[in-house]
Amino acid sequence: MAQTLETFLPEGSLKRCIEALTEAAEEISSLLRKGAGLGGLSSVNTFGDQQLQVDVLADQIIETALQRSGVVETICSEENSKERPCGGTGFAVAYDPLDGSSIIDTNFAVGTIFGILKDGSFIGHKGREFVAAGCFVYGPRTELTFAVSDKEYAHQFIFIPTVSEDSTSLDRWKKNHIFTAIESGKLFAPGNLRSTVDNIGYQKLVNYWMSNKYQLRYTGGMVPDVNQLLIKGKGVFCNPASLSSPAKLRLLFECIPLAFLIEKAGGRSSNGSVSLLDIPITGTEERSQVCYGAKEEVERFDAMVGQMFS
Ligand code: F6P
Repeated sequence: MAQTLETFLPEGSLKRCIEALTEAAEEISSLLRKGAGLGGLSSVNTFGDQQLQVDVLADQIIETALQRSGVVETICSEENSKERPCGGTGFAVAYDPLDGSSIIDTNFAVGTIFGILKDGSFIGHKGREFVAAGCFVYGPRTELTFAVSDKEYAHQFIFIPTVSEDSTSLDRWKKNHIFTAIESGKLFAPGNLRSTVDNIGYQKLVNYWMSNKYQLRYTGGMVPDVNQLLIKGKGVFCNPASLSSPAKLRLLFECIPLAFLIEKAGGRSSNGSVSLLDIPITGTEERSQVCYGAKEEVERFDAMVGQMFS
């Protein structure tokens, strides 16, 4: 029988925090399946009050679940970026409640990204100090892919809502994969492609990928586009910047949590010069270039694209 999240995580406050996130993800997944986010159907509302945009609703669902857990001291999110108390003691949690909400209408996969720190504030810390980070993918399947500081590798669980009477909510999440390596391989996911107009290094890198017959795999949703590097065990994802097309992705809510995941799985991350896990967090609003993938691919990004335009 497949291992579940219930047996994977030892009893304790981190388990309670992850459990709260899975409960929120189950609710978000259910809303998406009912058409939340699709104009006329966005009235699906678990609160029974006013209509809410689906990303604001997802933000509230996660906040409520983390409040209930009692183990979260501080939260901040892409929807509400100021750090604020969450009613409990222990962790700080940063999250992007619904990344890629602009591609919900296309029925592409979207996701939730999270990072957890054992301290009351992210400010002054680095991603390397996180205790856990990862993402939920809402696609044909609902999956959790995450990594924990004191466990090797990255781990994936599928939400399968069939339970016996004595099971817990975490038994609904069945282990599917363990990710141990990201090797070189000809797969590329090139974000912010418009920046090639005035980022000549990026233009040359895209030409390198094309002339070397790399396979294009890009949806415009960061969660599935990064998650595929783990599943395929190869490739490169990036989102560089230029003067006319500045950095788009948020360091705390998107870049660092996924860097934690990729590096735990044996890959590399970079902002063009250093690992995203070594950048001190000085605010919750910062944006960054990103590159994730196999060592050789990230080194090529650093050499050809390099540091962000200022
Ligand atoms: O954060 C927003 C987002 O939708 C990411 O999920 C995605 O990787 C990125 O924007 C896409 O940006 P672009 O369209 O510039 O490649």
